[in-house]
Amino acid sequence: MAIEPARRPAFLEQACAGDEGLRREVESLLAYEGRVEQFMPTPALDMLSGGIASEPARFPEAQEVGPYRIVALIGRGGMGEVYQARDTRLDRDVALKFLPAHYVDTPDAVVRFRREAQAISSLNHPNICTLYDLGEHEGQPFLVMERIEGESLKQRLAGGALAVGEALSITSQVCDALEAAHTKGVVHRDIKPANIFITSRGPVKILDFGLAKLRSEPQPAPEATLDSAASPHESTITTLGRAMGTASYMSPEQARGEDVDARSDLFSLGVVLYHVTTGTRPFEGDTPAKTVEAILASKPVPPRLRNSAIPVKLERIILKALEKDRAVRYQTAGELRADLERLRMPASWRGRWLLAVAVLLLSLGVTLAAMRLGWIGAPSTTPDLKVRQVTNNPPEDPIPRASISPDGASLAYVDLTGLHVRRIDTGETTSFPPPENCCFR
Ligand SMILES: Nc1ncnc2c1ncn2[C@@H]1O[C@H](COP(=O)(O)OP(=O)(O)O)[C@@H](O)[C@H]1O
Ligand SMILES: [Mg+2]
Repeated sequence: MAIEPARRPAFLEQACAGDEGLRREVESLLAYEGRVEQFMPTPALDMLSGGIASEPARFPEAQEVGPYRIVALIGRGGMGEVYQARDTRLDRDVALKFLPAHYVDTPDAVVRFRREAQAISSLNHPNICTLYDLGEHEGQPFLVMERIEGESLKQRLAGGALAVGEALSITSQVCDALEAAHTKGVVHRDIKPANIFITSRGPVKILDFGLAKLRSEPQPAPEATLDSAASPHESTITTLGRAMGTASYMSPEQARGEDVDARSDLFSLGVVLYHVTTGTRPFEGDTPAKTVEAILASKPVPPRLRNSAIPVKLERIILKALEKDRAVRYQTAGELRADLERLRMPASWRGRWLLAVAVLLLSLGVTLAAMRLGWIGAPSTTPDLKVRQVTNNPPEDPIPRASISPDGASLAYVDLTGLHVRRIDTGETTSFPPPENCCFR
């Protein structure tokens, strides 16, 4: 039996009949519905109802959904179904993501959905999957977005830790995108390897920007605003629902159901950074509740103990991103990106590069100064001159033209008798008489 999130508190109140412990346990399980990748690849409620993974695609190939023609189902996840489709008006490939109907089941939720989508679509950044449009088909909301080809970081991580250079390149691109989004007041809230794509063309793209916000507030109170603060002690499904994100990657404040901000994304990125460099997650438990417990209370095993190839400075960066108190964590994505970028150019290279430039400039300066002072110049060309007679022509047969070969070994000259080439050292001469009726002058 599926009960809409909006009606769950009342249902639980009645079903648990005052058993507070039982009610809290059920609430915490519901809070992680569909978001715990490792331990519950299929959402709990879906497992009870047979699992969406076993369902056939709702839209067959070639079905028209508004101006979009379905090509194929390309993914299913915590957020619904994703199809590859063709935008028949613009003649381009798109991805359609159908969200569960309860995301927009009240007029207020529709307004919130549109407002959030506006913010997301304004994020024009090469590392962010672009949101093109919103739609609704037979009461079901869907997002129209850029279709990304490539593999998710989650798939890439199936092969274990990445090389440090690649890990730095990927996370620094994610950081760049986060910096742009945070500047516009958009927090991702669900940074995890499944939402980071390594495209076939090269750049990394982040998916699902801000969507967790829609998912985490399925039942807003009429006075609720986009950034309304909730008491951390509230124990309603809605509040627990705010403890969003995939359990392993969520920040302590998310796990506590508190309001999140840009720094929560940086914590999640810290978990991703830990994962890509060590091949393991920093906070793991046998159950989602234990994972959350670890996020809230355990110190992660130092990354270098898991992979000694990680530079000391990178370990420091990872641990700073994973600070439980957001006040001592990285405060901005720009700050984290700068630290990652500095590491991408290793200190030894930087040192060598600077040294090479300094030596080059210094030698250039010294050369110019020496030339100016006349200490150096073109090599001396003053020949060792000796006067020597190499021809002996009579006055009536003068030599009008003569030339010494560049190596100084031969002399070529003309006179009335012809053209002569003479070895200067031996006097050996080869002569060529002038053509008929012609003479050299
Ligand atoms: N814009 C897109 N382009 C291509 N594939 C996508 C796109 N968005 C989502 N997908 C695919 O659909 C899958 C399900 O997406 P989603 O519902 O966000 O679930 P999750 O992020 O929890 O895996 C993704 O893992 C991905 O493989
Ligand atoms: Mg996703």
